[in-house]
Amino acid sequence: MSQHHEHQAHSNHDHHSQSHGAHAHGEHGPVVHAPSGAALADYQRAYEQAEPEPGGTVVRVDLEAREIDWEFVPGRTTRVWAFNGQVPGPSIDARVGDVLEVRLTNRLSEPTTLHWHGLRLPAAMDGTDMVQHPILPGETFTYRFKLLDAGTFWYHTHSNEPVQLERGLYGALAVRAAEEPVFDRERVLVLSDVTLDGSGQIAASDDGRERRGGREGNVRLVNGTSEPELMMWGGQVERWRIINAASSRYMRVSIGRRPFRVLGTGGGMLDAPTTTRDVLLTPGDRIDVAVGPFEPGEVISVLSEPYDRGMGERSAELFATVRIGPAAPSHCSVLDWPREIAPLAERDAAPTREVAFSERIDVHGGVTFLINGEQHYRADPVTVGELQVWDIVNASSMDHPFHLHGFFFQVLERNGTPPAYRSWEDTVNVPAGGRVRIAWVADDRPGEWMYHCHILEHHAAGMMGHFAVVRRGNDDDASGRSTA
Ligand code: C2O
Ligand code: CU
Repeated sequence: MSQHHEHQAHSNHDHHSQSHGAHAHGEHGPVVHAPSGAALADYQRAYEQAEPEPGGTVVRVDLEAREIDWEFVPGRTTRVWAFNGQVPGPSIDARVGDVLEVRLTNRLSEPTTLHWHGLRLPAAMDGTDMVQHPILPGETFTYRFKLLDAGTFWYHTHSNEPVQLERGLYGALAVRAAEEPVFDRERVLVLSDVTLDGSGQIAASDDGRERRGGREGNVRLVNGTSEPELMMWGGQVERWRIINAASSRYMRVSIGRRPFRVLGTGGGMLDAPTTTRDVLLTPGDRIDVAVGPFEPGEVISVLSEPYDRGMGERSAELFATVRIGPAAPSHCSVLDWPREIAPLAERDAAPTREVAFSERIDVHGGVTFLINGEQHYRADPVTVGELQVWDIVNASSMDHPFHLHGFFFQVLERNGTPPAYRSWEDTVNVPAGGRVRIAWVADDRPGEWMYHCHILEHHAAGMMGHFAVVRRGNDDDASGRSTA
């Protein structure tokens, strides 16, 4: 066993004696969950069982989180928190069947953890405070798991999220299948925003004003730079993996207001690519698109088109400008890359549970964000292999993006209408006053999991549910651990 592992085991053990408070239901302030006493053993087992498939490899990445100076706006320096000195952190690239081993060292002034958004990994590697103690300043923790699915994923801090993500603790992860369509170029565009004050520093958060809808920054970012200019050759077709890493900003992405091809979403390729002029990308969500070809000399704006998520409609917003250079030869392969996705359930399948998003004004005039009437809702266990049909109901007056950790679902219908294509998703928008029906089946990865609104301020304020995935016959074992 590697040193990394022993170091982890040691540091985890050191902090076993910390008594983190139990769930402080109905109170303001951060709710600290705590891993069970068996979490360390679960972690060790998951670590040891992560072996690459034949032909695969172990992709090792060292991440160091520390404060640095960064230029969101060229020529203007902002103090940020970054992985390896860059915002976003390094883009990780790997293949299905590889093992990803990420050793994270925390050089920040506060604890952190790392969540692997969209990945089907063992619960112990999910990076939440349900499954691990936070990584304290000075400590190192190693995440190690096998990559099971091709797609566009991302990693981000799962501690003090409204602060730590804005400061820069996020990055992209592309996982490739053995065979993929060929494009002239591939780019990852991590879209986000920050709120800078007059001196160019990240503004202190203003609870009262920002809390209800979540923070929307005054500087829009692509890969850590404000409204950059990109360059693309004429006549070429590129594959763009687009990630919305913002705290709360919805992006209705359009590319020069031209039609473009959507190849995939959060859970990889669609059953059949579809052509559109814009795609709504909520916080946490991703799309994989084919862009171009364009004529030499064209100037293409990457925009977020107007959209009202219940906070009033904003005008179109620029994220990046693409200048089209001289024509170059194209080696792009077939754009149609269908994938078989068997439906899990019919649209009219009877829901097995309801997840209700709501908000409530409390006595002090603040707003509380709830799941099924509670903050940090404890949901019933989910049994491995049993079909889940969940109706996600939004009783509030603004949209909320529902994100399920660790498992993909299919959208059966949204406000009574089936989606335009079949796909696997981990994040879906639930419109204000609306209802989305999803279906999913837990594969054999028992443990503690969660779902939440991916508006970070709402998640932090309690709009989340946590539940155990248990093996059949183990339903009363709330830890979800098998005795086998
Ligand atoms: Cu990207 Cu718990 O979320
Ligand atoms: Cu929300």
